[in-house]
Amino acid sequence: MSDSWESLVQEIKRCEKCPLHKYRKNPVPGEGDTSSPVLFVGEAPGRTEDETGRPFVGAAGQYLTQLLSMIGVERSRVYITNVVKCRPPGNRDPTEEEIQACSEYLVRQIKLLKPKAIVALGRHSGRFLYKLAGLNWTSMTREHGRVRDVEILGLKVKLVATYHPASGLYNPGLKEDIEKDFKGPIKQVIDEAFGRGEKGLLKFIKK
Ligand code: URA
Ligand code: SF4
Repeated sequence: MSDSWESLVQEIKRCEKCPLHKYRKNPVPGEGDTSSPVLFVGEAPGRTEDETGRPFVGAAGQYLTQLLSMIGVERSRVYITNVVKCRPPGNRDPTEEEIQACSEYLVRQIKLLKPKAIVALGRHSGRFLYKLAGLNWTSMTREHGRVRDVEILGLKVKLVATYHPASGLYNPGLKEDIEKDFKGPIKQVIDEAFGRGEKGLLKFIKK
């Protein structure tokens, strides 16, 4: 049976597969362009996200929107979601069990979207996506900003991880790393995915 964005959202809204459903006001399936070649994956909804049912709309979300506009990307042109769709109480880290239970939805989102580029925000997202790509996750210090050519669920994807935007707000020392990652490798994979990078242009000129 073929899957659809509508059934996915309906299932997430009714989902009780892990304890997080008990605390949520609203699950946060994701938002953006469902035909975008670019997927952003954060960790889990925070307070504002839980209240609104939308991903990355609190302080970290405003910073993400700013980072995207800094590299000439409108937020509405990418798809944004999280590894875990319901807010962990008090913004604690999601547990391994919760990530496992919820991962079915992210896997289905990747299959529906078929992205060319995936950007992992934060270590839970990085670790999960590296595993899906058959890569060994070491640490964010080592992995951030590295473009990895991988196969995820049978799709050829450029995968890049960076620090979670919230960590840039708590720890201004990381802002420089995050902004370098956005201006360099993240911009590069997004431009390529949109066919407007150097490679995209060359392809165009050759034809
Ligand atoms: N942090 C996340 O990881 N995701 C959100 O949606 C908001 C904050
Ligand atoms: Fe279901 Fe995911 Fe919410 Fe857990 S976090 S209840 S698995 S949607």
